[in-house]
Amino acid sequence: MNIPVEERTPYKDLTTQIEIQEIVGQGAFSTVHRGKWVDTRGTLRIVAVKILRPANNKNNEDETQLMQRRLNRESRLWGSVDHPYVLRFLGIYQPEPSLSAMVSSFCPQGNVVTFLKNRPNINRPLMISRISQGLNYLHSRNIIHGDLKGNNVLIQDETGIPLLSDFGRSRLLEVHGVYTTAFAGASRYLAPELMAPPDTYTQAEQDNFTPNLTKESDVYGFGMVGLEILTDKIPFAHIKLDTMIVIMVNRGRKPARPQGLGRYHDKAWDVLDRCWEGQPASRPVIAAIVRDMPVSDNLPGRNH
Ligand SMILES: Nc1ncnc2c1ncn2[C@@H]1O[C@H](COP(=O)(O)OP(=O)(O)O)[C@@H](O)[C@H]1O
Ligand SMILES: [Mg+2]
Repeated sequence: MNIPVEERTPYKDLTTQIEIQEIVGQGAFSTVHRGKWVDTRGTLRIVAVKILRPANNKNNEDETQLMQRRLNRESRLWGSVDHPYVLRFLGIYQPEPSLSAMVSSFCPQGNVVTFLKNRPNINRPLMISRISQGLNYLHSRNIIHGDLKGNNVLIQDETGIPLLSDFGRSRLLEVHGVYTTAFAGASRYLAPELMAPPDTYTQAEQDNFTPNLTKESDVYGFGMVGLEILTDKIPFAHIKLDTMIVIMVNRGRKPARPQGLGRYHDKAWDVLDRCWEGQPASRPVIAAIVRDMPVSDNLPGRNH
């Protein structure tokens, strides 16, 4: 029987083995703490504990149920994946019904955006290639990430291994989920087809429009993450207003190639450039990006 992901119980309950420490990160829908995990064998590990935040700040029963569904959904999906470039899910933490959290290994280097600051010599195309491999793994299992952006790519350790994280908006392709969460602040990474329905829609269809996350919209978001890594700037950095970005991208605006990228980065740009095609079907599949992304161990740094 095909049980929807959010109805299945989460697994690996680590509640009694975790000690929560200070806050290390804030997302739109969660607060992330550092924590200590002592497992049944007595091994200590430093972990990240992602506590889901209620949509409104009321803690009534509806809200608790909603949080439980969010926990089940995200932890089930996240718990089903295992890849060198995807953050590993360790279990759940739920000391009371209204406090739901997910545990993962702690990444002291934070996300890719902060990691790359003041590190001009990191091999950026190699990093982008690894992210494409992580995404290729998800897509090969029919998992849509749904929220690709620099903030959601964490760094494993000093070697700079990127890890895809944040499955809060992810979904399995064959499960037809109702889409409810808002894309708060994500418009810079949002494919045009997620922003607005086609003009051919009737008024009623337009009013009821809900974006449908796809592999193609993931590829668009991946392209923007690649851009962020190559340029050290958020996508469309020169455009201040997010609402302007929505309008411009709907009119067909794509990122402009920066001057003086250098040969290696220029090649990487050529691959990313195809991810921003307005028509989803014109974008490459992620497997083609894995194949085409230039990777050189001899040419680190941005000016080669
Ligand atoms: N395993 C981790 N190690 C270190 N920091 C983390 C970890 N997981 C999340 N964070 C930090 O917390 C932030 C929010 O986590 P995220 O999973 O993206 O939540 P949200 O769904 O609310 O965006 C991240 O951008 C990151 O800075
Ligand atoms: Mg996030």
